Amino acid sequence: MASRTHRGIPLSALNPKFLHTNSTSHTWPFSAIAELLDNAYDPDVRAKKFWIDWTCIKGLDCLSFMDNGAGMTRGKMHKMLSFGFSDKKATKGHVPVGVYGNGFKSGSMRLGKDAMVFTKTKDSMTVGFLSQSYLEAIRAQQVLVPIITFMRDGQNLYPLTDAASLQAILKHSIFNTEIELFSELRAISVVGATGTRIIIWNLRKTTNGETEFDFSADRYDIRANHSDCSGESQSMTPESGYSLRAYCKILYLKPRMQIILRGQKVKTELISKSLAHIAIDNYRPTFLSKRVWITFGFNTKNKEHYGIMMYHKNRLIKAYERVGCQRKAEKKGVGVIGVIECNFLQPTHNKQDFDNTDKYRKTIHNLGVKLEEYWNEIRYKRKKEDPQCTMPIEDILKFPDQSWVQCDRCLKWRRLPDGIDCNILPEMWFCSMNPDPQFRSCHVEEEPEDQEEEQHSYPKTYKQEDGLSAQCKQLKEELKNMRQRENKRRSPYSALCAEEDRGTLWTLRHRIGRLLVSFVPALDLNQVDYNSSVIDEMLAQVLQELS
Ligand SMILES: Nc1ncnc2c1ncn2[C@@H]1O[C@H](COP(=O)(O)OP(=O)(O)OP(=O)(O)O)[C@@H](O)[C@H]1O
Ligand SMILES: [Mg+2]
Ligand SMILES: [Zn+2]
Repeated sequence: MASRTHRGIPLSALNPKFLHTNSTSHTWPFSAIAELLDNAYDPDVRAKKFWIDWTCIKGLDCLSFMDNGAGMTRGKMHKMLSFGFSDKKATKGHVPVGVYGNGFKSGSMRLGKDAMVFTKTKDSMTVGFLSQSYLEAIRAQQVLVPIITFMRDGQNLYPLTDAASLQAILKHSIFNTEIELFSELRAISVVGATGTRIIIWNLRKTTNGETEFDFSADRYDIRANHSDCSGESQSMTPESGYSLRAYCKILYLKPRMQIILRGQKVKTELISKSLAHIAIDNYRPTFLSKRVWITFGFNTKNKEHYGIMMYHKNRLIKAYERVGCQRKAEKKGVGVIGVIECNFLQPTHNKQDFDNTDKYRKTIHNLGVKLEEYWNEIRYKRKKEDPQCTMPIEDILKFPDQSWVQCDRCLKWRRLPDGIDCNILPEMWFCSMNPDPQFRSCHVEEEPEDQEEEQHSYPKTYKQEDGLSAQCKQLKEELKNMRQRENKRRSPYSALCAEEDRGTLWTLRHRIGRLLVSFVPALDLNQVDYNSSVIDEMLAQVLQELS
């Protein structure tokens, strides 16, 4: 990139007014915060932890964001503070959210007028300053971004030739001495050898002069001060609309980074696993060669919050988007949540919506059709099981079909045996506490999700007898192999391997059990011991019935 400077301070061709205009794309403050989370999550940074805090520096309210990711070299910092540079690539299946090279600028300048970025790599420490107040004070015609770099050479720090930038920072930021700058850099060391810390001040105010965040309603949360979000209307607004903690829980379809909000860990949620009466459906859009998967289920917490959760590359774009019959007055589809990852659509620049293209409209239409099918199917099943019941299905108390928990050490997701309530787990949970021996170590890979399993090895099954029996047969085959292996093991052999195989067998049977229930909903497997061969026999019977 061209590195133009003005008296030694890096310079971009844009007018300072652009910083504000650009930030207005975020109509909602949490969408600005999501940009900062995305940057730490993306594969070039791969932070494991992300801290969000509210602090007060020299009497000013500040937001601070810190990650323990890879940090930035000086060159990267320069790109971060400039516009339109993004060279993120997918690594090991981790696809970046960032593409436009704009998220940090639009996000940070949406939250406040001024931002300071502190970052550390193995060899260097860099401080960068993106500030509307500074640019106004010096009446700049172009955006100047003061940057200073120190090399981390043992105990010795060598300031490079950044005198003008240093002066600008000390004069126009809230950090007026080098000591203050270093103490912020030191804060990064507390959390890891490398990482980035962003401090934003002169926070945006609402028209009545308050900051747009409420820091006092909940000591461990940051609330959006929405005028339309109080009293009665608040119960209609999903929590993620006004609570940053609730939003962080569902921001990623599969959370990979731990978020610590005001000192307390955010208990991330696998949204597609937190539902009741889960069914996985799919369809093939005319414009795609691949099938698209949708998970449907009932919201177990609040039936008023329903609609489709639309993700893109693992990141939530639209939440609770009502489709088809849910948009009509006939009260169909109430309480039903759909989860879909629409990588084939294009998010808008603020990543809160999709471009309104023909593809998008078709997708919404198809989601409506599929959702109505699901709704009818569930109601039909219920009627059959309990013809007397008059209570609408959405009003019946429900519990999630499955419980999943994330290990606090390796961040892998583990499925808990049925009947364990996630809410009673200890604050910190590790793989070593898993009741399921097969997944009791951080070294064991994650169990594939139903959808992934099906995508990779089996055809789709829901509602299609043929597909279902094919899947049963396949499982039967796997089961046979496992049992044969187990029998051979009767002779002395590595005890560890045997233990591992028993775990695999247990999981396999568990999967079979779930499959059988989707076949015969009345089947009650609560008492089944998955260490015994009961389930194998049930499978054999069902297969026989089918043929
Ligand atoms: N927390 C961070 N740690 C390390 N590097 C970062 C961090 N935040 C931003 N960067 C760097 O700054 C660059 C610019 O970030 P920015 O969010 O503006 O654009 P982007 O993520 O590439 O694209 P998008 O506009 O879609 O978000 C990133 O490409 C990344 O290289
Ligand atoms: Mg970004
Ligand atoms: Zn673990």
